[in-house]
Amino acid sequence: MEQTKKRIFSGIQPSGDLSLGNYIGAIKNWVNLQDDYECLYCIVDMHAITVRQTPADLRRRTLEVLMQYLAAGVDPEKSCVFIQSHASTHAELSWVLSCNTQMGELSRMTQFKEKSKKHEDNINAGLFTYPILMAADILAYQADLVPVGHDQLQHVELARDIANRFNHFYGDTLTVPEAYIPKVGKRIMSLQTPEMKMSKSDPNPNGFVRLLDDPDTIMRKFKRAVTDSDNVIKASPEKPGVTNLLSIYSAVTNKTMEESEREFDGKGYGDFKLAVGEAVVSALKPLQTEFDRLSKDKAYVEAVYKKGAEMANYLSNRTLRKVYKKIGFIAK
Ligand code: TYM
Repeated sequence: MEQTKKRIFSGIQPSGDLSLGNYIGAIKNWVNLQDDYECLYCIVDMHAITVRQTPADLRRRTLEVLMQYLAAGVDPEKSCVFIQSHASTHAELSWVLSCNTQMGELSRMTQFKEKSKKHEDNINAGLFTYPILMAADILAYQADLVPVGHDQLQHVELARDIANRFNHFYGDTLTVPEAYIPKVGKRIMSLQTPEMKMSKSDPNPNGFVRLLDDPDTIMRKFKRAVTDSDNVIKASPEKPGVTNLLSIYSAVTNKTMEESEREFDGKGYGDFKLAVGEAVVSALKPLQTEFDRLSKDKAYVEAVYKKGAEMANYLSNRTLRKVYKKIGFIAK
C-alpha cells in the first residue's frame, strides 16, 4: 500500500450487534469508497473496553463485526481490515497525543457526557481519554478522510485539533483529517423514540434493527415504528418518526429524500412502513447470506485479519517512528 490515492480510516466498536445506523452511517459508505481511496477499516476492540465487556462476548463480537464488514462488501483485497489490539502503535501514539490534549477539550465531548451518565458506576479514565485513542487510530495512518455518522463528528474535529497542535509544536508531521458524513442517513434514529439516535446498545430491541435480524423481525420492528397522527409522509423537524423512516428508505434504495417523498405522496402510514421494512429486508439479504457463509470459514476470516494486522503495523509504525523522532525520543 504505497500512497498514491488519498487514505481513509474508520472503525466500529464491537460493543453490541451492529445496527442499521452503523450500516447506513458508516459501512455502506466504506464499501463505496474502496475504489477511489486507500482504505483501512478497523474493529476497535480497545475502545469497546471503556465499558465493561464479558470477555467471551467481546471475542465473539469482534469476529462477527469483522465478518459483517466483509459480508457488506468490504473487500480485503482492496482494503486493509484489521483488529485494533493487533497494532500496539495505536496505544503508543495515544500516549504521546494525550500529552498534547487538554482536559478541557475532553470534558466537552458529548459522548463522554452521555456515557458517563449511562454508566455511573464505571466512569473510568479510558472513557474520558477515549477520543485521544480515536485520534491516534486516525493519525497513525495519516488518514485524509474519516467516513462516520454525525455522532462522531466532534471526535474527528478533536483529532484535527490535536494534529494541528502537534504540527504547530513539532513541525509538519501528521495529516489533518476530515470527516466524511453521508448526505442521507448521517443520523438514523430509534424506531421507538425517534428523538434518540439508533444505538446498538439500546435496551429496547424494538428501537433498533440488527443487520442480522431475520426478515420477520425486521418487518415487525418497522410495523411498530413510532410515527405521528397527521398521516402525511414528509420530512420535517416536527415529524421525527416519519423523517427517520424516509431517511432509512432513501439510504437503502439510494434515492434522495425528495424522490422518496414523491414516491409516498398520498399513501398511508401502514403501506409506508411496510415498504420501508421490505426495502431494508432486501438491502440486508445479500449481507446476511454472505455472513452465514463466512461464519463457516474461520480460516479465511483469520487470514484476513492477520494480513490486515501486518499492513496496519507497517503503516502505523512509520508514523510512530516519525512522531518519536520529532518529540526527541532516541531511536532504538
Ligand atoms: P460506533 O461503534 O458507535 O459506531 C460506528 C459507526 O456507526 C455510526 N453510527 C451511526 N450513523 C448514523 N446513525 C446512527 N444511529 C449511528 N450509530 C452509529 C457512527 O457514527 C460510526 O461511524 N468512536 C467510534 C469508533 C471509532 C472510530 C475510530 C471511528 C474508534 N476509532 C476512528 C472512526 C475513526 C464509535 O464509537 O463508533
